Amino acid sequence: MSYIARDDRPADKAARYAEVEAEILAVLEGEPNRTARMATVAAILADAFPVFFWTGFYVVDPEKTGELVVGPYQGTLGCLRIAFDRGVCGAAARDGATQIVDDVHAFPGHIACDPRSASEIVVPVFDESGALIAVLDVDATETAAFDAVDAAALERLLGRVFAA
Ligand code: SME
Repeated sequence: MSYIARDDRPADKAARYAEVEAEILAVLEGEPNRTARMATVAAILADAFPVFFWTGFYVVDPEKTGELVVGPYQGTLGCLRIAFDRGVCGAAARDGATQIVDDVHAFPGHIACDPRSASEIVVPVFDESGALIAVLDVDATETAAFDAVDAAALERLLGRVFAA
């Protein structure tokens, strides 16, 4: 059975996310290093759904206030830095809230890293103290690939991986 992210079968999609979460948590068991954790999440998510095209993190730069710097990712070359006031990633960092963009070409300020990206979801990542440490960016090759099922599953996954 194959799964797609834009899905008329939300139960299937949620089930696929549950498998992915279990796999990630099993691989990360006992590994505290944050870079290793981000790299593992990016790699396993990249294979989770066929429409996922770019999966990765932009990390809050401790040396440059209000700026994200690229972290572990899978996909084509991403831009290196994103200011909090730019793009979908910046919006997620600024507001501390998940952003879903059905059509990136219609989003004002969207930063186009690759023309194949059609829609995206960006989820803020918090540590156990509630501080923002990064955002997770997932781009898809289809428009409107992401919905509330993706948001809930990714928020839950990131909470378990980085704030537990
Ligand atoms: N589209 C993002 C930029 C990062 S990449 O797509 C890899 C944005 O607008 O924030």
